[in-house]
Amino acid sequence: MQRGTRTATYETSPNIALVKYWGVRDPARALPYNSSLSVTLERLRTRTRVEFVPGLDRDEFRLNGRPAAPAATAAVAGMLDRVRDAARVTDRARVVSRNNFQTASGLASSASGFAALAGAASAAAGLRLSPQRLSQLARFGSGSACRSIFGGFVEWRAGRRADGRDCYARPLYPPRHWPDLVDLVALVAAAPEKSVRSAVAMQASVETSPEYARRLAEVPGRLAGIHRAIARRDSAALFPLIMEECDSFRLVCETTRPSLDYLTATSREILTAVRDLNTDTGRPVAAYTHDAGAHVHVFTLGRHVRAVRARLRSIRGIERTLLLHAGTGGRRI
Ligand code: PMV
Repeated sequence: MQRGTRTATYETSPNIALVKYWGVRDPARALPYNSSLSVTLERLRTRTRVEFVPGLDRDEFRLNGRPAAPAATAAVAGMLDRVRDAARVTDRARVVSRNNFQTASGLASSASGFAALAGAASAAAGLRLSPQRLSQLARFGSGSACRSIFGGFVEWRAGRRADGRDCYARPLYPPRHWPDLVDLVALVAAAPEKSVRSAVAMQASVETSPEYARRLAEVPGRLAGIHRAIARRDSAALFPLIMEECDSFRLVCETTRPSLDYLTATSREILTAVRDLNTDTGRPVAAYTHDAGAHVHVFTLGRHVRAVRARLRSIRGIERTLLLHAGTGGRRI
């Protein structure tokens, strides 16, 4: 049994993918088919405390002030087992986690949740992992979690190696790289809770969507274009690519058998409103994207926020909107 720190707290934010991760080539190693790229969001935070407790007979997990559901506790225990193996710790742990935002249904609480858990558990167990290694650990909880270790604009490199050593997340640009870029998150009322976990749903897409192979062939070019547009702070190049990528992801979901439909009628109206705004303005002033959930992220520039808000105002079923910039990544508290 190792000595030293037994308790640690780690905090981080969810991220929204501009290039989506959807499907793994090696489930045991959690290695994705394609690289992905995201923006870590400010203000929304998950804070997780892990304490290894001698004599505790099983792992305990409290989420937002209540004992978590058995499936969530089992997923947490899975991550703790990895950390225990690496650190040669045998004690069970008490895990307490809190989100300052709505859990599940499209705000990527699993990304910040597993990133925060990986950060807190590894530190509590006495492992001193580099951020890159921490990203490699976090992806075993939820793939997108590896990107939430870092702030700003982040790439998760799929890598090519069978052992996964070249598969990790890395920061591309810091949060302040493009202060004018904002994400207006439209929180959709009655967004359904996910019925199928993303990890299961994406493998159904790999196996059954006739669109999957085409998407995979397109993604590297799109990712390079999105990276270049971010580097140059070129919204006219970026916004159409963000929507193209989101449409490709959604097409793969819809053509999966059984079909995966994450949107509500309100979400779809938002997509239409953004397309119409761009058409009416004669240039791309905004871009929509969504993950495996009904909330819609509308990227725009500070000077267009009023126009975007005006379009969204007429849509029924938007509960509220959040105006977010790129934010900082993980840190130990
Ligand atoms: O990280 P997971 O297993 O919850 O899957 C995330 C999948 C998407 O959010 C749809 C895309 C992404 O890259 O975040």
